[in-house]
Amino acid sequence: MAYSLFNILYKLRSIPNFSSFISSGIHSHTFLLEDLFFILNPYSMKYVITGGAGFIGSHLAEDLIDSGEQVIVIDNLSTGSLSNLSGISSNDKFRLIISDVRSVRHWEDILDGNTIIIHLAATVGVNKVVCNSLETLENNFQPTLTLLNQALPLGCKIFLASTSEVYGESTGVCSSESDPLIVPSSHCGRSAYTLGKLTSEHYCLNYSRQFGLPVIVARFFNAIGLNQIGNYGMVVPTFVRQALAGEPITVYGTGNQTRSFCNVKDIVRAIRQLLQTDSAYGQVFNVGGSESITITELATYIKRVTGSSSPIVYKPFPPHRSLGKDILHRKARLDKICSVAGWKPLTSWHTVIDEIIDHQKVLLQSRPREQYAYV
Ligand SMILES: NC(=O)c1ccc[n+]([C@@H]2O[C@H](COP(=O)([O-])OP(=O)(O)OC[C@H]3O[C@@H](n4cnc5c(N)ncnc54)[C@H](O)[C@@H]3O)[C@@H](O)[C@H]2O)c1
Repeated sequence: MAYSLFNILYKLRSIPNFSSFISSGIHSHTFLLEDLFFILNPYSMKYVITGGAGFIGSHLAEDLIDSGEQVIVIDNLSTGSLSNLSGISSNDKFRLIISDVRSVRHWEDILDGNTIIIHLAATVGVNKVVCNSLETLENNFQPTLTLLNQALPLGCKIFLASTSEVYGESTGVCSSESDPLIVPSSHCGRSAYTLGKLTSEHYCLNYSRQFGLPVIVARFFNAIGLNQIGNYGMVVPTFVRQALAGEPITVYGTGNQTRSFCNVKDIVRAIRQLLQTDSAYGQVFNVGGSESITITELATYIKRVTGSSSPIVYKPFPPHRSLGKDILHRKARLDKICSVAGWKPLTSWHTVIDEIIDHQKVLLQSRPREQYAYV
């Protein structure tokens, strides 16, 4: 059915001047003829990125388009934004479907046997998660199940973005994929994020084990880079914004918590390398940075590089965040992804922070102050 419809579209499209009536670029999920042609093309590989208008997804979409791949992004713009995709929105090989994954009805028009699904859509950010626990729980597992069921008859490859949060409070120096997983108390709002992701992991690994679906699960550890926003509690954009605005840089807790930040471009490379590695399917991988720093070190570095006079202020965690323990130390053991897919992070955290600060300074100069709502 998809094949014959493709042939009709192919003929229509090749009529002289016909294509000029067809607009492309960003639009709602009312399909245009050109979209149908693109989606039903049975001859090429295509990537469907859920959450592709978000931070990691937009970098991935851009990287794939730069390599000449076809990309369809499905995003409800709950935390993502169209501006993240402005560099690729007019590319012939790019399409955006503005929709919640849970509301997509005609999957047969989007997926075929040549589709690779990269599932990044999720409710993220500690502030958003604790204020919307039930929606978080549902959103972080229901779309995964929908995608698995749609992919199953077609045999599509699926990549699931999971999280280091599943390790809970780590007892060792680094967390390994085989470590026990710890979910915070049900009274803790942020456990909804972990539970939703763990349920997704479980479904993915069991669809792989029981039905042979080619699935990869990756647990990301603190990505940083351009396009990340601070609205929902992300620490780097929040500190950069505070430092550039001359406001106090707010460290919650003692500041001795450690994180291993990873350049979003390294994460994109990890996703692509894993997808190209046959032996990676059916498995779970950590993806993160290799250097640990304390939050105080991070604040001090950002203050120094921005030349800010902002004081670094220590505060107790706000009430909605202190329900449940904040994870003190978070670092990935990366041996598995290195040996299976030959991947390791290439950028140090301060190089990425420097890039973010330079970018934000340019934005600040080009935008009136009152429009500068977030970094
Ligand atoms: N950024 C990190 O440090 C980090 C760490 C661990 C895990 N992850 C995971 O990586 C993925 C991407 O994270 P990100 O930092 O880019 O977050 P993001 O908020 O920038 O991206 C998520 C995107 O998903 C979209 N979205 C959410 N629910 C949707 C739905 N039901 N249907 C369609 N679109 C939906 C949002 O609008 C947004 O564009 C998430 O699954 C997240 O849990 C990220």
